[in-house]
Amino acid sequence: MSDATPSIESVGVIGAGQMGNGIAHVAAQSGLAVTMIDVKAEALEKALSTIRRNMDRQVSKGTLQAGDRDAALARITTGTDMAMLSEADIVIEAATEREDLKKSIFKSLCPHLKPSAILATNTSSIPITRLGAATDRAPRFIGMHFMNPVPVMKLVEIIRGIATDDATYQATEALARRLGKTTATSEDFPGFIVNRILLPMINEAVYALHEGVGDVASIDTGMKLGTNQPMGPLELADFIGLDTCLSIMQVLHEGMGDSKYRPCPLLVKHVEAGWLGRKTGRGFYDYSGETPRPTR
Ligand code: CAA
Repeated sequence: MSDATPSIESVGVIGAGQMGNGIAHVAAQSGLAVTMIDVKAEALEKALSTIRRNMDRQVSKGTLQAGDRDAALARITTGTDMAMLSEADIVIEAATEREDLKKSIFKSLCPHLKPSAILATNTSSIPITRLGAATDRAPRFIGMHFMNPVPVMKLVEIIRGIATDDATYQATEALARRLGKTTATSEDFPGFIVNRILLPMINEAVYALHEGVGDVASIDTGMKLGTNQPMGPLELADFIGLDTCLSIMQVLHEGMGDSKYRPCPLLVKHVEAGWLGRKTGRGFYDYSGETPRPTR
């Protein structure tokens, strides 16, 4: 790290959903002071109990000491007021994946931040350059894309906007390493690296299902055992959320203007039906029973 690289000791997290609570979890476990903000106090309560449950699991497996769990939990402060982020060295935004919402969060947040604070977004597909331009700190704005589930997945994809400066990039990279993650650096193109490659594979699996090439079980078993992936593409789509999968395909389709990224009509239909995957109890699998059951 150069002298110009800001050191990070306190982290703000905006959004207490699945990604936000995972980021707060790994940051607190790495010894950083964490302030997690959400508009809903109930969401913060739920996030804290999820973090506690996940840390308890680590303790019962012997990968975390009970004392370290308690110290990590004590490092997390929560609240609904963005003014609580005035001392944060970096704020990682992990709100719902909607550009208008993210921009309005940045507008309310920026006046509270100290001038040197880095602002990172966990967006999975919105252009970093465009989001950065909607803030007062484009040189200190960067993409920090965590994978789900955050405590388990080793990767953080780092995306530089056109205006992101070197000190911000280096500080963000160092933070990701401190969180125990390995980084991959992507330029700011639609879908970045991971989703540019992953989502067309998932979309192709949905086409294979749509065209009757194979049923859900055959497609997932084929890819899981045939290419050594922990989940088949349809199971993974349900895990990510079919609405998220569709929105990333739309970003790729519109951003590249290439028909090879056309979202499969069956994926669109599932989203229109509200069959969004695990979170709604039905996607390509039905989750109402003891074990997930393929729907086709
Ligand atoms: N939070 C915290 N820890 C979790 C967890 C969660 N939600 N889910 C599972 N774990 C932990 C378990 O405690 C267990 O820990 P140990 O290794 O210390 O024992 C470990 O993960 C494995 O869990 P299980 O044995 O219960 O389950 P599994 O072996 O079936 O693994 C999985 C579950 C880790 C989710 C695995 O199936 C997997 O890796 N799936 C693929 C996930 C993936 O590809 N994620 C990326 C999605 S793409 C993305 O996120 C980017 C985007 O923008 C769309």
